[in-house]
Amino acid sequence: MCGIVGYSGKQEAAPILLEGLKKLEYRGYDSAGVAVIGADRIRIEKVGGRIALLDEKTEGGKKLPGTVGIGHTRWATHGAPTDMNAHPHLSNDGRFAIVHNGIIENYASIREELLRDGYKFESETDTEVIVHLLEKYYDGDMKNTLRSVASKLSGSYALGILCSEYPDRVFAVRESSPLIIGIGVGENFFASDVTALVQHTKNVIYLEDGEFAVISPANIEVFDYAGRTVEKPVSRITWSVKAAEKGGYPHFMLKEIHEEPGAVKATIAPRIRDGEVVLDDLPFSEEYLQSVDQITITACGSAYHAGLVGRLAIEKMAGIPVRVELASELRYSDPIINEKTLVIVISQSGETADTIAAERECKALGAKVLGIVNVVGSTVAKLADYVLYTWAGPEIAVATTKGYTTQLAALYLVALFLGKQRKRLPEEEYREYIDEIDRLPKLMQDTIDMNYALPDLAAQIYEKPAVFYIGRNTDYAVSLEGALKLKEISYIHAEAYAAGELKHGTIALIDVGTPVVALCCNEALLEKTMSNVIEVKARGAKVISVTFRDEDEVIAQSDECILVPRTKTLFAPILEILPLQMLAYYTADKKGCDIDKPKNLAKSVTVE
Ligand code: F6R
Repeated sequence: MCGIVGYSGKQEAAPILLEGLKKLEYRGYDSAGVAVIGADRIRIEKVGGRIALLDEKTEGGKKLPGTVGIGHTRWATHGAPTDMNAHPHLSNDGRFAIVHNGIIENYASIREELLRDGYKFESETDTEVIVHLLEKYYDGDMKNTLRSVASKLSGSYALGILCSEYPDRVFAVRESSPLIIGIGVGENFFASDVTALVQHTKNVIYLEDGEFAVISPANIEVFDYAGRTVEKPVSRITWSVKAAEKGGYPHFMLKEIHEEPGAVKATIAPRIRDGEVVLDDLPFSEEYLQSVDQITITACGSAYHAGLVGRLAIEKMAGIPVRVELASELRYSDPIINEKTLVIVISQSGETADTIAAERECKALGAKVLGIVNVVGSTVAKLADYVLYTWAGPEIAVATTKGYTTQLAALYLVALFLGKQRKRLPEEEYREYIDEIDRLPKLMQDTIDMNYALPDLAAQIYEKPAVFYIGRNTDYAVSLEGALKLKEISYIHAEAYAAGELKHGTIALIDVGTPVVALCCNEALLEKTMSNVIEVKARGAKVISVTFRDEDEVIAQSDECILVPRTKTLFAPILEILPLQMLAYYTADKKGCDIDKPKNLAKSVTVE
C-alpha cells in the first residue's frame, strides 16, 4: 500500500525517485507522483495510473531538474485514483510539497478549519490537510513547524516533505507507518521499505513512531516530537539486490515459489541443532512456559491460514488449547486474553494495520506476544516480546507464497519446541518429527519438480466461473489458502469448504464440469474425504485431487491428480500448497492477468 521515497544528494533526483517507486510497485498502488525542488520553485508531476505513465510524462525524470525530491505511489483510500488525488500535494503558497502513507483520521475537522481560514483544496484526499497545516504553522523553523503540525494530526502517517526554503533538504516523519532512511556517501535516501534502498546502500536507520528526520546530502538528524535529538543505531540490510529482482523468471511470484525450499531451509536449519529444536530467539523461562494455559494466534489473510495449520500442530504436539482469530475481528471482540495467554502474531510484512492493532490489544491485556515475522525491524517485530523471524527474504509478488510456507515452518518449530518443553510429546515421536522437518526442504523441491504439468491443468480450469476446494482438518486449513491464491491472482471465484460441510449447503453449487480440488493428504480422514469426492463426482464435478504419490485409491477415483511426496500428516500442508500456488499462477498466466500486482490488492495493508 502507498509507497514513499525521498532523495537529497548531488545527482538528479527524479530518475532516482522513479527507480525507487518502481521497486515499491509491488506494494500495490493506483497513482503515482514526484516532486523536485527546482531552481525557482517546487515542481510536481503526478498521474492516475502506472509509474510507466509518470516515467513517460517526465521523460524519465528529465523534465524535473533538481537534486532533492520526494515520490509516492498511492493506493486510493480517500478519493478516486485521479491525477488530482495523486501525491505529492502542494501548499497554496507553493512552499511545501508532501507525500503521505497512512490515514489522517481527523482530517474532516482539520479541513473545515482550514477552509474557514481560506486555504484552497485541490483534492479529495485526507493528506492534503497536512500540506496546508505546514503552510499555516510555518514559523521559519522546520523543527517547530513539524512538531506543531504533528500535534494536530491523529491517525497513521509516514510523511516525506519538501520545503523550498531548505532547497538541499528532505524531511521525513513517522507515526505508525514505516519509514527507513538509507545512508549514502554524499547523498541520503528514505523509503517505505528497504527494497527501494538496497540498490543504493545497505546502511539504514529505522525511524520509530514519534520521530522525524532532517536529511541533507551530508547529514541526517533525527528528533523526537519534543525536539530532542535522538541518536539512532545504523542497521545493515542483509538482503542482496538480486533478491529483489526477477532473476530470469517471468514473474516474481514464480521466482518466489521456486525459492520456497531454500527459504524454508533458512528458517528451519539454524534452529535444529544436534537433533533438538533450539530457539535462541525465544528466551522463554521454564516458569513462564509452564504457566501458559492457552494460545491465541492472530493474523490476516494467508498468515491467518498459516495460523490454522499452526493450531493443529500446537494442539497435537504440545496439548495447549489454541484459538485462531482474524486480527480484524480480534481487535473489536473483547478477547479473553490474560497473562497466561501466549499470543502468536503472524505477519510477513510486519506492517499490517489490523495485525498491529490486535497485537497492541493483546499486550494491553497482559499477554506475552511471540511475533512470527519476515521483515526485520517491522512494527509487529518491534512490538513483540519475542520474535521468530522467517528467513524468506524479500517477497515482492503481492500474493504471498514463500511468506506462507516459512510461517508454517516457524509454527512447526514452535509446536515441536512447546511439545518438548511441556513434556507432552513422547521422545520417539519428537525424534520422528525432527527427522521429518529436516527433510521438508528436499520434499518441497521434489514437489515442485514433480508438478511440471500444472500448466496443462490450468488450461482446463482457466475459463471456469468457479472452483471449489475441499478437505478435512489439515487439508481444510490448506484448502483455504489454495482457494485464496486462485481467487486473488486469477479472479476466478474460488471457495474452500470443510468437506464434511458440503452436504449442508454447498453441494447445491456443484454442476456438471465444476472443478473441485480435493485435498487428500490427511490419512486418518481419507476415507471420509473420499466419500465426499464420490458425492461431488456423482453430481458431475471434475475432481482434481492433491494426494501422496502412492495413494492409489484416491488416484483411481480422481479425474486429475496432483501428487506430492509422502510426509507426516501435520507437515503435508507445506507440500500441498506448492502445487496449489503453481496452479493459481498458471491459471492467472493463461488468463493474461497481472500476476504480481493483482487488481485492487496491496502487498502490505497498512490501513484498517
Ligand atoms: C495473500 C496475502 C495476504 C496477506 C495478508 C497479511 O496472498 O498475501 O492475504 O497474507 O495481507 O499480510 P502480512 O502477512 O504481511 O501481515
